[in-house]
Amino acid sequence: MRLFRADILSAQPAKLYRAWMAEFRTPFFRSYLVNDPALVKQVLNVRPDDFPKSDRIGAGLRPLLGNSVFLTNGAEWKRQRRIIDPAFEGGRLRDTFPGILGAAQAGVVRMGQRADGTPQEIEAITSHIAADVIFRTLFSIPIEDKIAQEVFHAFRAYQRTQPILNLAAFVRGPAWMPRFFRSETRKTARTIRKLIAQLTQDRLALIAAGQAPDDLATKILTTKDPETGQTFTLEEMVDQVAIFFLAGHETSASALAWALYLLALHPEWQNKLAEEASQFTGAFSDLSQLKHTRDVFRETLRLYPPVPMMVRETVQPEVFRGRPVKTGAQVVLSPWHLHRHTRLWDNPDAFDPARWDTQNGKTCARDAYMPFSAGPRMCSGAGFALIEGVVLLALVVKNFELSCVAERDPVPLAHLTVRAKDGIWLRIKARTP
Ligand code: HEM
Repeated sequence: MRLFRADILSAQPAKLYRAWMAEFRTPFFRSYLVNDPALVKQVLNVRPDDFPKSDRIGAGLRPLLGNSVFLTNGAEWKRQRRIIDPAFEGGRLRDTFPGILGAAQAGVVRMGQRADGTPQEIEAITSHIAADVIFRTLFSIPIEDKIAQEVFHAFRAYQRTQPILNLAAFVRGPAWMPRFFRSETRKTARTIRKLIAQLTQDRLALIAAGQAPDDLATKILTTKDPETGQTFTLEEMVDQVAIFFLAGHETSASALAWALYLLALHPEWQNKLAEEASQFTGAFSDLSQLKHTRDVFRETLRLYPPVPMMVRETVQPEVFRGRPVKTGAQVVLSPWHLHRHTRLWDNPDAFDPARWDTQNGKTCARDAYMPFSAGPRMCSGAGFALIEGVVLLALVVKNFELSCVAERDPVPLAHLTVRAKDGIWLRIKARTP
């Protein structure tokens, strides 16, 4: 049990950043950390159906997420993606832009109240902004809304009781393991699901009355599976909203916080971004001008991928790099290691947003970069998250100057996402033009 609570990111042996594959033996089964781009491609892109998500990894999330698209496999998962994906297609993304921009502007106002140059914990600030983005784009409500506030606080409590990404990712426990939830976790999950059910029910009523706003919730609730003609039931929608909230806000909050930390460490890039952002008027069409901002966000996702590792399972005997692998083995795909692989990347540990214009950067972007996973099971919100990240970053650096706090270097830690052990502390000051 002690192992399950240990952190997986600190003290990673240096050789894992050089290895193409590493095998871990546990009392119950074998686990393979896969860093070979060709093998990663086999698992995620070429034969994804042969490497489903492991049930036991999802176990910690099931009280909250039920049968959400994040946890299902096979035909059930495919059906869910057929209904969800149209909401995130290119044209629809443009419709989410006003919600993202509104949350960014509200975040700037809140940050302004803390811009007195004293140390501030940035992750709490970015979590608030990212949660606001999700409520505005999904349900057209700001985070100040009463139910939104309750959901936001309940999610925080859930995370505190249930750190998910610990050694469990490597060590598949015995069959009784999933039943080992703390009762507090189950209670918080029930509270969150009740609140989400209320939001969803209200929305179904508005749809029936022809008065629903045109946001992500309406889009998903009214999309029929092209194969069966069925829409999601209320219960199914609650599962999906829970994952949108969780996958959508935790990850973006983590990415934005690390991006701001990296910019505080590298004032030359911060100034470059501030200059670029000074031209950003808040129009969707301006986004393509924010090239440096996009490069910094991509570089942040490389160095601090919010989802550091993903786990799949073998369902038949396999051969990995000439080695036989048994059925039921865990396959760990690790953006954390792949993104800093010393045999693939030039200067892997350096913050260098200009690398994306180099030949090595372009090759690695294709073969060794997967902050959103890859293949058919790739993050549904990837396009959305990239727009969100760039807009939030641009607006923050346009308005504020960020600097580091001496002796408070953040130490990365894997919770639900990559967070810092004691938070990320920065000083915020209003930027003078
Ligand atoms: C920087 C932000 C984000 C990052 C780095 C990220 C990363 C990921 C990754 C790595 C996965 C695959 C996990 C696995 O296979 O085990 C995933 C799945 C998913 N993400 Fe994201 N995500 C982000 C933002 C979002 C947003 C904004 C949404 C929705 C609004 C979203 C919704 C989802 C969903 C629904 C899945 C499950 C897809 C499936 O299994 O078919 N994510 N995300």
